[in-house]
Amino acid sequence: MANTNNDKIKSFNLDLWKYDGQEGALIPLLQSAQDTYGYISEKAIDYISHVTGIPAAEIYGVVTFYAQFRTKPLGKYVVKVCNGTACHVNGAKTIGDTITDELGIDYDETSDDNNFSLLSVACIGCCSLAPVILINDETYGRLTTAKLRKVVKSYKRKAKEEAVKEAEAETV
Ligand code: FES
Repeated sequence: MANTNNDKIKSFNLDLWKYDGQEGALIPLLQSAQDTYGYISEKAIDYISHVTGIPAAEIYGVVTFYAQFRTKPLGKYVVKVCNGTACHVNGAKTIGDTITDELGIDYDETSDDNNFSLLSVACIGCCSLAPVILINDETYGRLTTAKLRKVVKSYKRKAKEEAVKEAEAETV
């Protein structure tokens, strides 16, 4: 039994040791898990339950209560729309609407094919380029609707090509 727990601890190399049993201390642990893995898996909940002694069902209740937590992995391409002040006044709403239209997902959703997730973020530090989005680590700024559609379509194409390649690789 001890080995199983040690294995779990090794597989979750998170900064979870700050937990001091105080009310609310669970939230930073969950944030840590999500920051590391992109979402909070059942395995992570089991592990946090093991560390804290809080029943897994209770932790799951907290995870589902707060909109900031995800229980599903993010898509291959994570589109982050900056909704900081500079981007907001330069059309971030239209940017978000356009992406929703292109990808068929709203904020905090992932497409059915797991290719795209859409997130809203605060200022990402390049306000002079507002409005700005990030797709994975790539920054796209001074966006117009036309430019944005072009960018998103190029990722859709890329995702399709990758899916074809992956399917081909599987048949070899
Ligand atoms: S407000 Fe969007 S980058 Fe600063």
